Parts: sequence; C-alpha cells; structure tokens
Amino acid sequence: MPATVIVGAQWGDEGKGKIVDLLAEHSDVVCRYQGGPNAGHTIVRDGETFKLHHIPSGILNPGRICVVGAGCVIDPGQLVREIDGLEERGIPTGDLRISGNAHVIMPWHVAIDSASERRLGKLQIGTTRRGIGPAYADKAARIGIRVQDVLDPKILRQKFETALAEKNVILERIHGVPPLEVEDLADRMEEYAGRLRPYVADTSLLVDRALRDGKRVLLEGAQGTLLDLDHGTYPFVTSSNPTAGAAATGTGIGPTRIDRVLGVAKAYVTRVGEGPFPTEIEGPDQARMRDLGAEFGTTTGRERRCGWLDLVALRFAVRVNGLTSLALTKLDVLSAFAELPVCVRYRLPDGSETEDFPAHQSDFHHARPVYETLAGWDEPLDGVASLDGLPGAARRYVDFVAQALDVEVCMVGTGPDRERVLTSRALASVAS
Ligand code: IMP
Repeated sequence: MPATVIVGAQWGDEGKGKIVDLLAEHSDVVCRYQGGPNAGHTIVRDGETFKLHHIPSGILNPGRICVVGAGCVIDPGQLVREIDGLEERGIPTGDLRISGNAHVIMPWHVAIDSASERRLGKLQIGTTRRGIGPAYADKAARIGIRVQDVLDPKILRQKFETALAEKNVILERIHGVPPLEVEDLADRMEEYAGRLRPYVADTSLLVDRALRDGKRVLLEGAQGTLLDLDHGTYPFVTSSNPTAGAAATGTGIGPTRIDRVLGVAKAYVTRVGEGPFPTEIEGPDQARMRDLGAEFGTTTGRERRCGWLDLVALRFAVRVNGLTSLALTKLDVLSAFAELPVCVRYRLPDGSETEDFPAHQSDFHHARPVYETLAGWDEPLDGVASLDGLPGAARRYVDFVAQALDVEVCMVGTGPDRERVLTSRALASVAS
C-alpha cells in the first residue's frame, strides 16, 4: 500500500492542515516528518477552529494513528499544552505516537533564537523565535537532546550539565541574557517526561508495519518548499527540509515506499518573515488580500506578506518535490479582484527571461515578475458544489495553472470550512 506525501509548494501557510484533515478520513496513519512548533496548522471543523503546532492534523479524525516523526523537533511544554487543549475539547489523543529519536527544543534554544535575531538587527531572518534553528543546529553538531534522553533522568542530567557549561557562556557573554540552572530544568523536564512517556514509540517500525499491513499512510510536511534548508531561498529559510524527499528520512521509511506527492499551494502567494518575494503586491491590493484571506500567522500573529501567484516558483516546487498532483487553496479570496496577474516568467538582471527558478541567489533577489493577466470573476464561490460549477473565469484560472505546470489540480479550496473543497475525483482516490 502506498504512502502519500502532503507538501507545501510555496513559503508555508498554504492550508496543508485542512487538506490533511480531509484526507485523513480515508487514511489510517498520519505522520509529521519535520519542523516543530514554528508550524501552525489551522483547521475549521463544524464552525470550531483548531490550531495545531506539533500534532498532525489527522488527530481530529478519531481512530487515526498520528505520529510525530524522528525528523521533528519538539517543545515538550508546547506539546503537552496541545494534548491537554485537544482533550479538553473532547478530541482523544490516545492514538498519538512520538518518535524517541525526535530532538527536544530546550529553553536555551528559544533564548538563543530570540537573542540572535535581535543581534542580527536589519539582517534578521524573521524566525518564529521558537528555537527551531538552534535545536536543529545542535542536532547536526551531535550535542542535541532527544525525546528518549528526556525519559532517562540520569542521562538527562548529564546532558544538561554538559550543554549548560557551553550554552550559559553563550547566553551570558554573547547575548547578555541570564544563565539557566540545571536543577530548575531537570525538574521541569521530569514533569514533561511523565506526561509524554506513554506516547513515545518506535515510529519507524510502526509506519513500516502499517504499510506492510496494507494501511494507508499520509506523510505531512510543515512549512513549504521555498523554506527548505537546502533548496529554499537561503538564508531566509527554516532549518529543516520540508520538501518531499525528507518525508522518508523524517519518518524512517525508504523512499521506495512513497508513491504519491500532493503539493498544496494557495491560489496566490504569502510569505512571513524576511527575504525576497518577486510577486509581492505593491499598493492597496496587498492589504486587501491580507484582510480577505485573513493572512496573519497562526504561530506568531504576524502579518503575512501577500503576492500574486508565481508559476516560476510553483514549477520549481513541482520539480524538487516530484509533485504528482496539486491542491489549490483559497481560490475564493481572489473573487474580489477584477484582474488577476499571474507570474509566468522572471526577467533577470541581464535582460533574459526564464521559466525556471534561478539557481543563484542574486539572480533570484533581482528577478522581476513577467505577468500574464487573467480575468477575475464577480460571483462568490460559496454555493459552488463541483469544479464544473465554478464561474467560467475561475475555472480558466485553475486550468491555466494546471496547464502551465503540467500537473493535475485535484482539489480546489473555496472557503475556510472543511466542506469547502472541490475535488476532481473521490477523496479516497486522492489519498491512496
Ligand atoms: P524558523 O523556522 O522559526 O527558524 O523561521 C525561519 C523562517 O521560516 C522565517 O521566515 C519564518 O517566518 C518561516 N516559517 C517558519 N515556520 C513557518 C510556517 O509554518 N509558515 C510560514 N513560515 C514559516
């Protein structure tokens, strides 16, 4: 049985949570493969809004095994709050499983993330200040603390002593912030360890067995392609690999087990944090789009920068993820615009034009969008029940994207509720 990857095709916030929530109905296991509480997946169900940071969006479907994979970084306090929040609202979390190999975000990671952004001043990345970069940096330096370490108080204390000998110097001398105490941290972690212990499992084995037993598995990415540490708009990226290739390593299965990759893209583009953004809108349409699309960060509440759809960037996402299909979300937000510019090529500083995403960062920084303007539509999309029922201009917009990318658009989002998604075929066949 196949595993399907769900990956953000832009700069994150594409609406993956809602798509995963829908497809989870036809799946048995949902596994998050990278990222941490920098992610914020918002799902509206029966008028109720759920905001998830760590736990896969499949959790709202009872009976689905939801996995936080080895490629993730976990803030234990945040995870415990998320578990409690779901339980209080009657959503059971007994089927949650956490990889013992996932790394733990420690208070010094959060302190260093904030302090180094402050120090960078105008050069800052605009991180979510959740400690993501410093936690992944320690993982790569092989001095990180993993979930399995937190379960062993003796090992944990030793690791704290070693880590704080260095981190406190960095905190005090470089960033001028107060040092951390071993005792204090050990007490806090002991409490979290007690809460998280029942959820910790060999999740690589679990997902492999599920696949062998013919179960349907969704691999859920966080952030998006252009925030990928290796392939995104470095250095304005996150510190993990959201692209589909990382779904195998972040879960602990082989790449041959994956055979579908569903990209999720907004019908326009947003970006939070700093960094180049060729199709960013100048003028009043920027604020208009932000308000209509409620484009404010789930995790930080920051205003998202808004832009017209960028097919050069999306073509890149098709390539680096090997997308087999695309979900186009929030088409309804465009209903308010009479004309819709779509970026089909970039003009580079030497005057040449390209349909391919520039490999060199200074070309990308100076790239200017070449637009083709499509007609908008006046009708709201509220009552539309099928792709064929879309107003003509909306349908042409969707078809234009599919043709330009040579990828099937199998889902179109027309509103915040989970019911407001039009599909080209039965949902069960999208997920398996
Ligand atoms: P970090 O992941 O907190 O280190 O932030 C690095 C960059 O990724 C910043 O530009 C963030 O705004 C961006 N980022 C991180 N997580 C998300 C997300 O879930 N959605 C959109 N942008 C994100």
